[in-house]
Amino acid sequence: MSALESTYLGMALRSPLVASPSPTTGKLDTLLQLDDAGVGAVVLPSLFEEEVDREAVTLNERLEAGSGVFGEASDYFPDIDLDHLGLERHIMLVEEASRRLSVPVIASVNGRSSGGWVRYACDLVEAGARAIELNMYDVAVDPDRTAADVETAYLDLVRAVVDAVEVPVAVKLSPYFSSFANFAARVVEAGADGLVLFNRFYQPDIDLETLDVTAKLELSRPGELRLPLRWIAILRPQLTGTSLALTSGVAAGTDVVKGLLAGADVVMSTSEILRQGPARAKALLTEVAVWMDEHDYESVDQLRGSVAQHAVPDPGAYERAQYQRVLSSWKH
Ligand SMILES: Cc1cc2nc3c(=O)[nH]c(=O)nc-3n(C[C@H](O)[C@H](O)[C@H](O)COP(=O)(O)O)c2cc1C
Repeated sequence: MSALESTYLGMALRSPLVASPSPTTGKLDTLLQLDDAGVGAVVLPSLFEEEVDREAVTLNERLEAGSGVFGEASDYFPDIDLDHLGLERHIMLVEEASRRLSVPVIASVNGRSSGGWVRYACDLVEAGARAIELNMYDVAVDPDRTAADVETAYLDLVRAVVDAVEVPVAVKLSPYFSSFANFAARVVEAGADGLVLFNRFYQPDIDLETLDVTAKLELSRPGELRLPLRWIAILRPQLTGTSLALTSGVAAGTDVVKGLLAGADVVMSTSEILRQGPARAKALLTEVAVWMDEHDYESVDQLRGSVAQHAVPDPGAYERAQYQRVLSSWKH
């Protein structure tokens, strides 16, 4: 048995590093490179219901355009490349990746309607996905919707998808819930097999010349690891049978080690792999193996959770904001 083996969503993985959704996991050639580099699993880019809807509208418009031009409209089909429609493309990628990769392929869904979440999750499972990741985010802007309303909607969706598919379901969440430990437990009660912590939001900016609201994608910085690290450490003893994946700010092998020490079953990376290319996964895993060797850890199992909240001499360290102490530690 290799020292790096781990288990995630009931699947035995050869390593605890998972490539999280990004353009790198959206193409077969880079997926194969990630596989060569030793990742334990890959999560494909989310199938966004909006993307499918938009393409359906475009398809419809083109069909309609045809009906105005030709007499026998019902026989007319403009030359549309179905391979490039969102749903088809995702299904083909799942099928191909599942056939060609040696590691599990996890498909991600971001729906808009309840039916959409369920339908697309089922389609992706049918195409070969070994697990489903629900990429759930919602900027709650309606002042008439309470936190309980928002949480109930999330839980209903998790239940609907879990009931519909026979593979494990992980839920990727944002940290913006007022009582996160309570909500995380209820997501698990609703049937989730794993939690992926945390999704990153891309905040809009204002262009001072054009006054446009702009969306600029910025890759994560290493310090962003701290937030998921804290919550993985807190939730590990609370959710003993649940898979936990850490995502955000993983830029070095030592970050992977920290995630595992806090209690993650797998640690995910996107920005670092986008910056350095898929082969970077191999270097990250080598760093993990070297660290384990130097610190006499024989397996990921032995490492996992050994610095989780229940395992440390001062469990309160994960709860305190350390606000005053951190502020006064600033030195010029
Ligand atoms: C270009 C890009 C595309 C992404 N696409 C998705 C996506 O389709 N679904 C998803 O759940 N997360 C997506 N993410 C978020 C990443 O999977 C990851 O959770 C996030 O970037 C934090 O991890 P990191 O610090 O390793 O980058 C994307 C991130 C980037 C940078």
